[in-house]
Amino acid sequence: MKHLLFLFILGVIPAWAQQAKIVRGPYLQNFTSTSGVIRWRTDIPTDSRVFYSKELPKNANSVYEARLTTEHELTIKGLLPNQTYFYSIASPNIVPNQFVKTLPKPGSQQAIRIWALGDFGTGSKNQYLVRDAVKNFVKQKPIDAWIWLGDNAYGSGKDVEYQKNVFEVYQEDFFPNTKLWPNPGNHDYKDNPDSKKLAYFENFTMPKNGEAGGLRSGTEAYYSFNIGNVHVVSVNSEETSEDGTSIIDSTGQQAQWLKRDLAANKLPWTIVYFHEPPYSKGSHDTDTDEEMTKVRQQIVPIFDRYRVDLVLAGHSHSYERTMPIRAHLGTNDSFDPRKHVFAKASRPNHYVVDQSKGQGTIYIVAGSGGQLGKSQASFPLKSSAFSTVALGGSLILDIEGKKLVGQWLGSDGKVHDEFSIQK
Ligand SMILES: [Fe+2]
Repeated sequence: MKHLLFLFILGVIPAWAQQAKIVRGPYLQNFTSTSGVIRWRTDIPTDSRVFYSKELPKNANSVYEARLTTEHELTIKGLLPNQTYFYSIASPNIVPNQFVKTLPKPGSQQAIRIWALGDFGTGSKNQYLVRDAVKNFVKQKPIDAWIWLGDNAYGSGKDVEYQKNVFEVYQEDFFPNTKLWPNPGNHDYKDNPDSKKLAYFENFTMPKNGEAGGLRSGTEAYYSFNIGNVHVVSVNSEETSEDGTSIIDSTGQQAQWLKRDLAANKLPWTIVYFHEPPYSKGSHDTDTDEEMTKVRQQIVPIFDRYRVDLVLAGHSHSYERTMPIRAHLGTNDSFDPRKHVFAKASRPNHYVVDQSKGQGTIYIVAGSGGQLGKSQASFPLKSSAFSTVALGGSLILDIEGKKLVGQWLGSDGKVHDEFSIQK
């Protein structure tokens, strides 16, 4: 043992260490137009090195960290916007499928594609079908941001569950080149009573200092980022902040940050996502659930005030899209389209935003990425424009300039719902 330590001190890596196997990843986080984080796990502790180049293996740059670890996390910087970089771990050889495209410059009008996936890490047949549907759908136009709507790994968000039901399921087709922006659900918070020790926080790297364009949150629990001309906010419906409050306390730490973040945003599009929705008649009923009732009463007014375009959630294992609405703080029965719908449509589901009055917020539950659930007797919501629990699926958003198109892609590979917003 002493002999091995001596070799490490000299910087000589023994043969067994060089043969370390990658058992998780690589996966991509915090990617902006100029930098990003590459993470992976090895079976035994090693140093960390990533080679990257526009034309591997020619003239590859590399980043290196000598610390021996199984949890590798390296930041690459000084990248050019809108460029594809190939990368490899430990040696500068091309590895098929290991590439990452940097984001366009912030504020760019160019087309952006976002994939929103909720309640997925179950190991179910539905999870694989939803994955394969997206894999085929995005062949012509890849994903620029992959957002998770929580309940990522069932049943308790433990590391072994992340490994089996998340990393192993999406590794081949998505993780090496899909830029990930996660969000946790109640199941991810079951792992450990101390939320700081959750596998969720161990496994992922979030922009807590505003390094991806949003206002600094100071915590990985909630954050925001900019992608093209879209401001995206990952709110946390499960976290208790240091001041003892949660998102349902509209004057608490997270809600105060959310208000400041939305007020500071200069980009034309705003999308907010978190796990527990304000409106659902799927497997959870937002009329009877105390937590979700409070989300509606306390947080919806913030979305109204700052004219958020889309609010995405999971938790219910359904797909439920509302019309563009405002000020609907009561139960489902209180919904009145004359009072709560703020929209003009060129044809059904295709909205044209009134330049002076703006438009209401569209609320979407997309929680059938792996789970499939029942619905309440009163399903769908009175505010619903389209809802289904018959099939699993996930949501693809395309934003280009002043147009946003949403498509809900079923596990059968077909688009079952399409809507658009023109500003
Ligand atoms: Fe949930």
